Amino acid sequence: MAKKRVTKYTLRRRRAVAVLILLLLIIIIAVIANACSDDKKVSKGKAKNESSTSQTTTTTKPSQQNIIINTTTTAANMLNQNTTTTTTAAEKGDVESISLTFYAANIKVGDKKMPIVTMSPSNAKDKSEIWESSNTVIATVDVKGNILGVSPGTCYITVKSKSNPDVYAEVKVTVVANEEDAEPTPTSSDASQPTYVKGVLIANKSYALPKDYNPGLDPTTKSQFELLSADAKKEGLDIHLSSGFRSYDYQKRIYNNYVNAYGQSTADTFSARPGHSEHQTGLAIDVNSIDDSFAATPESAWLASNAHRYGFIIRYPKGKEHITGYKYESWHIRYLGVDTATAVYNSGLTLEEYLGIDSKYSN
Ligand code: DAL
Ligand code: ZN
Repeated sequence: MAKKRVTKYTLRRRRAVAVLILLLLIIIIAVIANACSDDKKVSKGKAKNESSTSQTTTTTKPSQQNIIINTTTTAANMLNQNTTTTTTAAEKGDVESISLTFYAANIKVGDKKMPIVTMSPSNAKDKSEIWESSNTVIATVDVKGNILGVSPGTCYITVKSKSNPDVYAEVKVTVVANEEDAEPTPTSSDASQPTYVKGVLIANKSYALPKDYNPGLDPTTKSQFELLSADAKKEGLDIHLSSGFRSYDYQKRIYNNYVNAYGQSTADTFSARPGHSEHQTGLAIDVNSIDDSFAATPESAWLASNAHRYGFIIRYPKGKEHITGYKYESWHIRYLGVDTATAVYNSGLTLEEYLGIDSKYSN
């Protein structure tokens, strides 16, 4: 009997314990299941966020698209990506590289040399070339790439692709003196003193400066030009000095080289004979490219409208070649002081007309 009571009690206790354990197990399973379900929710949310971030970046910053793709794709995919980019550039038909038959040249003053250009790919749509010289006082280059040595020194001749100007090649050109240079005549002036008309120092085809007139760049001209350049810069424009004072001897070299290259009558249309250059006054400045390309720039437009406010005039205006004696030079400015420059500017006249003088060589 005692054994039976004990057994019943034990059985009830065991059942109760079993039920408790079962309940406990159910609770544990429920907790674990819940935890797993939360983990899943977090993972899903994170993945969604990553995906949306990536998508937003790709949409709003297309330039970063490659970076995102490269960090998330395989090497094979990256290769495909590169292939796609190359195909797009080729499809555009742009020039992708330029090679030349030479990249350095030593030439004499008056000599010409022309590199042969190869633009790749050969089926590029537009293989037009843009040629530029870093210093036209040393060497010039024409639209076909003919390089001409003008005076001793070193400069760079650059050829760019018109359709893709980021692609370029350059030639380092060293120009040396030509001992056989013939001395063109006449090239000298026998002026014994400078000429002033109404207080203005004159150097043109009619009025020469003495050979030993050697003042260097006038300090006021220099400081007023610096002011002009700084104000232009505030408007996002770059106007810089490329040629300032030129001595009699330096001008003689430049002029003689042009005569040797183009003949005297042509040289006389754009280069002053020694003694006759305004650059020898120390009051003239050539800006930027010193060539016809300057006329089409915003810098040229700004200079033409504002130079007088700093005391300068455009000395050789368009359409006045028969009066000044020189072809249009958008880049050559002459310092006169603010009052005189403003008066000349407002008159619409050349300096010759304003002063009532001419500009003609006597021989
Ligand atoms: N180019 C100007 C005229 C000079 O040679 O002074
Ligand atoms: Zn000049």
